[in-house]
Amino acid sequence: MKTIILKSTEEIEIMRENALLVSRTLGMLAKHLIPGVTTLQLDKLAAEFLGDYGAVSSFLGYHGYPNSICTSVNEQVVHGIPNNRPLKDGDIISIDCGAYKNGYHGDHAYTFEVGEVAPETKKLLKVTKECLYKGIEQFKKGNKIGDIGYTIQSHAESHGYGVVRELIGHGIGREMHEPPEVPNFGLPRKGTKLKNGMVVAIEPMINMGTKDVLHLNDGWTIITRDGKPSAHFEHDVALVNGVPDILSTFDYIEKDLPFEK
Ligand code: MF3
Ligand code: CO
Repeated sequence: MKTIILKSTEEIEIMRENALLVSRTLGMLAKHLIPGVTTLQLDKLAAEFLGDYGAVSSFLGYHGYPNSICTSVNEQVVHGIPNNRPLKDGDIISIDCGAYKNGYHGDHAYTFEVGEVAPETKKLLKVTKECLYKGIEQFKKGNKIGDIGYTIQSHAESHGYGVVRELIGHGIGREMHEPPEVPNFGLPRKGTKLKNGMVVAIEPMINMGTKDVLHLNDGWTIITRDGKPSAHFEHDVALVNGVPDILSTFDYIEKDLPFEK
């Protein structure tokens, strides 16, 4: 088993800056999410914004990934590659963004509504976000990794939703993906013991229908097997003094905070 790299207070503060830069990037993109915009336009805006703040995308070039953000629309679960197809009224889009600066990564994601979205889809987004925060609550001293996944899975399945098994959350630091693995499913009291100084990305990917997914032959995009929508919310979280400290925030998106410094 690979060792988990615990972070110092100073490192956590650098990581908070990177996480918040991603939060501001998502806040900026939220303003552009109107029917007609293409995901490639969003990609360009994100790359410029990160550059303006002295960061580079964590994703660009990662295992050959061709763009700066992942844009996953409707039945796309994660790792959608930006393209020239315009978004339309009623779409949902998960935007996943990573910022690399000062030797550390930030990596977080939000699923947005474009125009007026169907009520059952709104509910999927609400429950997936609840899964994220319920999972984060379990990231505390005395608990184990399995407590996070068990809590996320229980909440999603209580609504009849499918929990994606093929993709999971992860430790984060000098590398975008570090140990430990943080599955969105599992058993309570199982897995690695949680310790102060751990920093993880918790990221439930929840499907309205079946948990099963397919890999498209572009080498990246993951879609639901039944074509029903999927949602994805992700935060970077540090364990400090026994409790979770959420480094990223959705406030730039949801509370309309000004995203410029
Ligand atoms: N952000 C994703 C994750 O949470 C990784 C994106 S894959 C990339 O693990 F290739 F786009 F970088
Ligand atoms: Co991630």
